Amino acid sequence: ADEPEPQAPSERKDSERPPLRSAAYFGEQELWGFIHRSFTKSMGYTEADIRRPVIGIANTFSELNKCHSHFRELTDYVKRGVWQAGGTPMEFPTISIGEPYIKPTTMLLRNLMAMDTEEMLSGHPIDGVVLLGGCDKTVPAQLMAAASANIPAIVLTGGPMLNGRLGGRALGACTDCYGFTLDHKAGVIDDAQLAVAENAICRSDGHCMVMGTASTMASIAEALGMALPGSAAIPAPDSRRRHMAVATGRQIVELVRRDLRPRDIMTEEAMANAITVTMASGGSTNAIIHLIAIAQRLGRRLPLDTFDAISRRTPFLLNLRPSGEYQMEEYFEAGGVPALMKELLPLLHADCVTVTGGTVADNVASAAVLDRKVIRPLAEPLEPEGGIAVLRGNLAPDGALIKQTAVSPQLKRHVGRALVFDSPADLQARIDDPELEVDEHSVLVLRNAGPIGAPGMPEIGQIPIPKKLLVRGVRDMVRISDARISGTSYGALVVHAAPEAAIGGPLALVRDGDEIELDIAARRLELRVGEDELARRRAAWTPPPRQYDRGYGRLFQERVLQADRGCDFDFLLPPGLD
Ligand code: FES
Ligand code: MG
Repeated sequence: ADEPEPQAPSERKDSERPPLRSAAYFGEQELWGFIHRSFTKSMGYTEADIRRPVIGIANTFSELNKCHSHFRELTDYVKRGVWQAGGTPMEFPTISIGEPYIKPTTMLLRNLMAMDTEEMLSGHPIDGVVLLGGCDKTVPAQLMAAASANIPAIVLTGGPMLNGRLGGRALGACTDCYGFTLDHKAGVIDDAQLAVAENAICRSDGHCMVMGTASTMASIAEALGMALPGSAAIPAPDSRRRHMAVATGRQIVELVRRDLRPRDIMTEEAMANAITVTMASGGSTNAIIHLIAIAQRLGRRLPLDTFDAISRRTPFLLNLRPSGEYQMEEYFEAGGVPALMKELLPLLHADCVTVTGGTVADNVASAAVLDRKVIRPLAEPLEPEGGIAVLRGNLAPDGALIKQTAVSPQLKRHVGRALVFDSPADLQARIDDPELEVDEHSVLVLRNAGPIGAPGMPEIGQIPIPKKLLVRGVRDMVRISDARISGTSYGALVVHAAPEAAIGGPLALVRDGDEIELDIAARRLELRVGEDELARRRAAWTPPPRQYDRGYGRLFQERVLQADRGCDFDFLLPPGLD
């Protein structure tokens, strides 16, 4: 009874719909029609099969991507649904990018995956597509591709892992990965205990089960209307995810019949809904870059100020780690994204159309919050504002972000002296140096770690507390960078400073001992150095050497846009959007 039913066929007559893309391939009467039919039938498809809507399934299964390890099986359930609804499924691979292995950072490959996926969608005889994603950068890449290719599409995520369990405690990847390795380093647990923890934390298929980037992007796909309601939070191994896969397969055929496309669904209002859900969920800062990139593929600018405005009016409701207490398994049991959206309905555009064919209001009509410890009432939030604040000032004229719910109270307004690390390598070499001139009031600055500088803007904005302060019990300091942070990070971390240092952004001009002011309530980030002095430093600045002189890395460094522009490649934006 829980399985979402495909909507009734639309009123539109066949003759009013544009012809199927696949019909141009298989119905053609000349040489190429002959070749298309002949080669396709050789795979076992019948004449009847190739006359039905052809549904691509972008299967990002990879043994190099743990979060997608169960996709071979999950695809079978999608196919079952496609056949049931009268479509013909055709599965295909794309590049699959998983966080744990890829160096220097998966962010370097997000645009490559978006390009790969877009070209697969545009260049084949498919009428619609199911996008199987999960790990952090995969769903954004697929949504960017869907926005550009604009053929009917539904996202189906692989789902979060079950909670890790150890000694009666729920464990979360990778929020607890940091704790166990620190405890081991400090001698609190031994090798054997570490091995037990290693085996206990990730105990099933699925992506990270805290509200990190993967869970944030799965929730966003749902909030945007691009995934079936309730799909984001179902644990990967739960039988109900298989049922959701069948329903997704059925619904994509219906979407093709209705000719409902990503650009009909991902409107400006739908984007606002996705931002509202992200802010109420304590979602990852990475989502901001991805949402900007998706909006631009749709031909719209999405300024950082829109995120700040929505954050200010959206209460933080979802009690999930790293900002809260619970994990995706409890979110699922509490009703998942539809229950949260029902709570948020007064703040949402309820009339946005979604892949169900119905509106947001229709989709959440029967939803209910089943656990108030996990999803708080709108009137009794965990915090009155959303998680992410946008800072501006002479240190980040194009903006910087801070996850304000994760900042120690005494640092929300702070003035301190800069200690500058010139690159990620410089940071690694010096941060634990006992001679480092630093105290708990210092402001740690890491530069040349942005989209072009690093390159790929790695998740190293969680600059470690220097060892000499750690042993004195210091646990948080103001830290500023042009890098990103993991969705699971914690502390007074100012990230995404734009423009970045490697192209001469103001972060490049900071020197040790300069005074820096952070004021989150005023949304201010200021370098207290006179304009004349800054001009002198700017004139003396030379850009750092680029790391890549060939290949994809070179393309990336030459064409990537800044963080406030979504880190897409300039040539992937639609014409007219500068
Ligand atoms: Fe894939 Fe965390 S490693 S979501
Ligand atoms: Mg992550």
